[in-house]
Amino acid sequence: MSYYFLYFLCLSFLAKVPGEEPTMIRISGQRGNYKTSETMDVSWEDCMVKCRADVNCVVVYKISDIQCQYFSFGSISTIQQAKSENDEIVLKIPTQVQCPTSNPLIPGPTYYTQLTNNQFYLTTVSPDSLYNNIYNLTYSVSTCPNNTKVFQRGETTVVCIGLYFFEAPRCNNQAAASALCKAQNGTLTGPANANEYEYIQDISNSSKYTSNPDSIQWLVYWIDGVQHTNIAYQYTFEDPTHNGITNYNWTPGSPHLTGPGICIYSPGPNYGNVQVYPCTDSYLSYLVCWRGALCQVPPIIELF
Ligand SMILES: *[C@@H]1O[C@H](CO)[C@@H](O)[C@H](O)[C@H]1NC(C)=O
Ligand SMILES: *[C@@H]1O[C@H](CO)[C@@H](O)[C@H](O)[C@H]1NC(C)=O
Ligand SMILES: *[C@@H]1O[C@H](CO)[C@@H](O)[C@H](O)[C@H]1NC(C)=O
Ligand SMILES: *[C@@H]1O[C@H](CO)[C@@H](O)[C@H](O)[C@H]1NC(C)=O
Repeated sequence: MSYYFLYFLCLSFLAKVPGEEPTMIRISGQRGNYKTSETMDVSWEDCMVKCRADVNCVVVYKISDIQCQYFSFGSISTIQQAKSENDEIVLKIPTQVQCPTSNPLIPGPTYYTQLTNNQFYLTTVSPDSLYNNIYNLTYSVSTCPNNTKVFQRGETTVVCIGLYFFEAPRCNNQAAASALCKAQNGTLTGPANANEYEYIQDISNSSKYTSNPDSIQWLVYWIDGVQHTNIAYQYTFEDPTHNGITNYNWTPGSPHLTGPGICIYSPGPNYGNVQVYPCTDSYLSYLVCWRGALCQVPPIIELF
């Protein structure tokens, strides 16, 4: 049997609008496994236009010039290579992506991602391990727990970042901060980029003004990084996804201590840059001290 991969293209007849516009990728291919579908008596072009405008539509397949097969979110799990020159299928990617430089079905896996409303949408097109003419489509939506925000780190890594506070005692050491994050199935983390840094600053500031238990002046939180050596700037991290200290903004003059047992913290909203302190320090005079931990916790992932 011969297969055709005559062309693929991002639909160019549809005007490109900046923002949250879906991308339609038109491929020489056909549908594979699906649970349900709808047959529509419309022209192929109208079918694509309708799918693009419908948030639930993910794939359309051309039956003929006047009929198409219409697939909603979660209803189709594989697509296949075309069996004839006329086989045409369109994948809708819910975000505006760069038109791939080659047919996305040939290598793989290919990921399409979108962050919106504190949720992360991931569409994966991956070659099946057994049949080289079949491609799996998977869709997942990651949602963050309350009081955390979703951030993308790398192609498909998603984390939920939040500040967690000690309750009693209100001040505690770095090991307790690590345990606080682990209790949420997460780890201590640090900012991985400028967006995250801005968010961390905002939440520490707003926490200080809105949920400060005793109008405490200092809100200090531990971030990821423990020193086990005497080598400056050499730390060990619990969370491999924030790229070490690359995106940490040091307070001028910091780190003022170097050596085993030194840990990294952020001195809160007033002086938001990174400093170090002995890991075991747990300044217990709670009237002047309020501490927490910057954690990354796993998103809740729904697969379709
Ligand atoms: C594609 O789906 C099939 C059937 O569900 C599964 O056996 C196979 O491992 C999947 N392949 C990939 C690359 O996910
Ligand atoms: C998250 O917040 C929403 C809205 O305030 C609330 O309805 C929901 O129960 C909360 N979920 C959890 C797990 O706390
Ligand atoms: C942590 O993971 C366990 C096991 O998956 C689960 O039972 C528990 O509810 C999770 N805890 C939190 C705070 O998400
Ligand atoms: C911190 O929050 C206060 C009160 O909402 C606001 O007035 C102030 O501008 C904020 N500071 C920063 C640095 O965001």
